[in-house]
Amino acid sequence: MCGIVGYIGHREAYPIVLKGLQRLEYRGYDSAGIALYDEKELKVSKTKGKVADLKAKMESEVDTSGTLGIGHTRWATHGVPNDVNSHPHISNSGNLVVIHNGIIENYESLKKELTKRGYKFESDTDTEVLVNLIEDVILKEKVKLGKAVQIALNQTVGAYAIAVFDKSKPNEIVVARLGSPLAIGVGDDEYFIASDASPFIEFTNNAIYLEDGEMAVVRRHKGVKVRKIFDDSLVDPYIHELQLNLEQIEKNNFDHFMLKEIYEQPSAIKDTYRGRLHAEEGIIRMAGIDDNLERFLNARRIVIVACGTSWHAGLVAEYIFEDLARIPVEVEYASEFRYRNPIINSDDIVIAISQSGETADTMAAIKLAKEKGAFVFGVCNVVGSSISREANAGAYTHAGPEIGVASTKAFTTQITVLTLIALKLAKAKGTISNTDYHMHLQELETIPQKIEIALEENDHIKEVAFKYKDARNCLYLGRGFNFPVALEGALKLKEISYIHAEGYPAAEMKHGPIALIDEEMPVVVIATRKGHYEKVVSNIQEIKSRQGKIIGIVTEGDTSVRDLADYVIEVPDTIEALTPLLTTIPLQLLSYHIAVMLGKNVDQPRNLAKSVTVE
Ligand code: F6R
Repeated sequence: MCGIVGYIGHREAYPIVLKGLQRLEYRGYDSAGIALYDEKELKVSKTKGKVADLKAKMESEVDTSGTLGIGHTRWATHGVPNDVNSHPHISNSGNLVVIHNGIIENYESLKKELTKRGYKFESDTDTEVLVNLIEDVILKEKVKLGKAVQIALNQTVGAYAIAVFDKSKPNEIVVARLGSPLAIGVGDDEYFIASDASPFIEFTNNAIYLEDGEMAVVRRHKGVKVRKIFDDSLVDPYIHELQLNLEQIEKNNFDHFMLKEIYEQPSAIKDTYRGRLHAEEGIIRMAGIDDNLERFLNARRIVIVACGTSWHAGLVAEYIFEDLARIPVEVEYASEFRYRNPIINSDDIVIAISQSGETADTMAAIKLAKEKGAFVFGVCNVVGSSISREANAGAYTHAGPEIGVASTKAFTTQITVLTLIALKLAKAKGTISNTDYHMHLQELETIPQKIEIALEENDHIKEVAFKYKDARNCLYLGRGFNFPVALEGALKLKEISYIHAEGYPAAEMKHGPIALIDEEMPVVVIATRKGHYEKVVSNIQEIKSRQGKIIGIVTEGDTSVRDLADYVIEVPDTIEALTPLLTTIPLQLLSYHIAVMLGKNVDQPRNLAKSVTVE
């Protein structure tokens, strides 16, 4: 959570830092702030609210010139979102300025110590403690800023990506990371700092991604020196060449990133299987699996750990892996797994799924699984992310940047990667017939085109959204492969429209949820012709006889559900295991349109952030 940006070089820092914060706003958006230095004075503006509020405030309050600047967009942890708790925070002398993404867990004891030594604190944040701790080290130990940051961080417990400068020595910014991402863009005699590369993509393609436990001193005209925070050794940084382009991180002609990302799914899925799926030859190439094939074939079981939407993708994978590859699978919330002393052995494979690759609970689950001797395979979207680096092997989803807070294309591309893995293992194990294997490969290749067809229902879905936008509750039902899709549909509605929604396996209805059904209750039922169609139709009849309102997600040409439902939304026909890739689409559009009609902030729903880097 929280986004940080910095610049030191020959350009005006303010527009770069401001634009950078706008691009990182998906990481947190309850308050924002910027500090600039223009060789004479330090100028700091911060405010509760969005980056747009900060822009208005800053431009009316201060002169925005200066070639050094840092900025922060916040998702509050310690201290409510208000002007005082917003970053940057300044040390008691007024010299040091810091921005921080993460949590300093031992801040209370540090604060007590510093208070005894005469330090005063204005905010409730852990970050203000950190900046004064660094100042205290400079004064006590008579060391330079870089050394002081290192000593201070050796006294802290927690997670951080920080950027700090000293206004009395305004030719350097010191940065450090542990548990929160931090990239340094290396331009032509100019340097950029950011939580991800999006703030500097139009200025440079070269970036250093700090590893956990590393810090860097970024000096004007002199370059970047990286060292380890805890053992002080120097590191020769690897400069990555970025693959991002500006178009990927702009809304283009869409009203919201979420809508753009829903519509990107056909191309995102093609990018996911490009170079991997060779349907004509009947081959799936995935280096992360090929290099570890024996291990996968001999695995006693697969344990999938993830959170939120990624956890739903894990549930779909459970059905697919067990059905096709006959490997036992368990799916766990990473946040539960990490604290429940799970039984994990060296012949278990743990698959960690994460769009951002930064989710704190998923990361902790991976570390625990590795300690217990398991082999960890990461399925991440963000290239170079912490989880992708911590895993023993992995496969990227290649969905491109997902900026809307509600996950859409990440989900379908995760399912695509996991399906490829399941098919590859099924073939190697001989648990799938040749005919079925080839049919699945060929069908997977047609999915992008079928999603295009599913997207053509958009106007009709808008009508359905209009009809049910004022509902206070909503049920989502599905069976088999589509049970997790029901969970995902309910999550999408909850998170962007704030309407209470629950997902259930359709047959569970009778064990409780049916009591909720009356003429006020919309029930979205995934009833594609494959799978347990007749049984789902019976469930629909049960809802109908209790006056529930039925929205059926059906296979094109369906008539049985059409006769019973209030509305049907069609998706093309496909193999049962691949239906989630199609049935998800109308559910994403339905929640999108309801949220827009209710006037909600679709891309930045309240209380949420894109990367949950705190537990
Ligand atoms: C829901 C959503 C979240 C994330 C969850 C995990 O739309 O976006 O539930 O899926 O926070 O995030 P990642 O996949 O980045 O680990």
